[in-house]
Amino acid sequence: MKRRLLSGSFAILILVLGLGIGFNRIQSAAAFSALFQPEDLLVRGAQLYDDWAAVTKSQPPAGNHPIWARQSTNTRSGPDTWQCVSCHGWDYQGKDGAYRSGSNYTGFPGVYRPEAQSETSLRAALTGDLDPEHDFSAFLENDDISALVKFLQEGLIDDNEFIDPVSLKVLDGDLQNGKQRYDSSCASCHGADGQSISFRFEGQTVVLGTLAEQDPWRFLHRTRFGTARAPDMTIGYQLGWTAQDGRDVLLYAQTFPTGREAPLGPSLPDEGGLADQPGGPAGNFLTGILTALAAMATSLGFAIILGGVLIGVLLLVVWLMRGRKQ
Ligand code: HEC
Ligand code: HEC
Repeated sequence: MKRRLLSGSFAILILVLGLGIGFNRIQSAAAFSALFQPEDLLVRGAQLYDDWAAVTKSQPPAGNHPIWARQSTNTRSGPDTWQCVSCHGWDYQGKDGAYRSGSNYTGFPGVYRPEAQSETSLRAALTGDLDPEHDFSAFLENDDISALVKFLQEGLIDDNEFIDPVSLKVLDGDLQNGKQRYDSSCASCHGADGQSISFRFEGQTVVLGTLAEQDPWRFLHRTRFGTARAPDMTIGYQLGWTAQDGRDVLLYAQTFPTGREAPLGPSLPDEGGLADQPGGPAGNFLTGILTALAAMATSLGFAIILGGVLIGVLLLVVWLMRGRKQ
């Protein structure tokens, strides 16, 4: 009798444990899809295009990307050379766009195509089927390749006819619309004149006004899709902004002081320069720790509930056994 009870309680114990593990699995799957809703796939793709190593919290291989050796005009080296944007540009037009000259010139083509691009051909380009040296499948999960494909299919915007190629000023924008959108969604962090947050740009510490004036395309890409360095930032894509709304906000930001004299605000490391920024990766590191802590807290909660259930079951078994003895 005792034996049966004992093995019975073991069976219950195993059942409860099994249920608990299954439950935890379901929970983390739910947490994962909460982080990456299907509509956010495009945003993730855009941020991967910007800096896939920062998004996936990984390091590109040491040295330059193998394709980088096909040019000699752009003297950047190391992690920068692995980023899609270094070769294809913030305007997605490579040698035909903003990178047609200057220190960013490589002669590499753009990825913007007015006609629709099939998933098969984009996937083939990213996994080395077209060019074995253009193979990112060793560094990016299949889901991230899908995110990039979605971004390349649906996220690329051609702003060049709205930006004066010489002055880099926005043409025909609506300043009032830009101001209103900036004030309601961006000023809380960046300040009414863009000077509250400073960040690294081309080896300098700058503010929004500087970026808007010197690299309107990077401004637009990150305003629309954000950056892995500012996960909490409000972004145009999620606010439902049109392409023109983004340009209107850019136009307004082009009226900001370029503020090199501005006091330094909080800043995260320059992209690609994680290794050579002393104290740089702290941002990523901190969010990493916070995420880990949050994950631990949830599983701890479950462990406590599980423990409670387990103790309850054991007490029940003991109580049953005692009842039989009498
Ligand atoms: C070191 C430079 C370099 C990097 C980094 C790079 N590419 Fe390319 N990419 C090229 C070159 C050059 C081509 C032209 C085809 C070839 O020779 O591979 C190309 C071609 C492409 C094409 C095909 C375009 C077409 O229609 O012919 C796509 C799409 C593409 N790249 C997307 C990306 C994405 C997304 C990333 C980041 C994950 C990336 N590239 C990173 C240099 C680069
Ligand atoms: C919750 C605070 C917050 C809000 C709201 C916010 N940002 Fe940001 N933004 C940041 C932080 C933090 C950074 C990263 C700075 C760094 O890289 O060190 C950043 C970076 C940027 C950059 C990229 C700068 C670069 O490195 O190229 C742009 C552009 C930008 N913000 C524009 C905007 C616009 C436009 C809005 C409104 C739609 C906005 N931000 C709203 C916090 C915010």
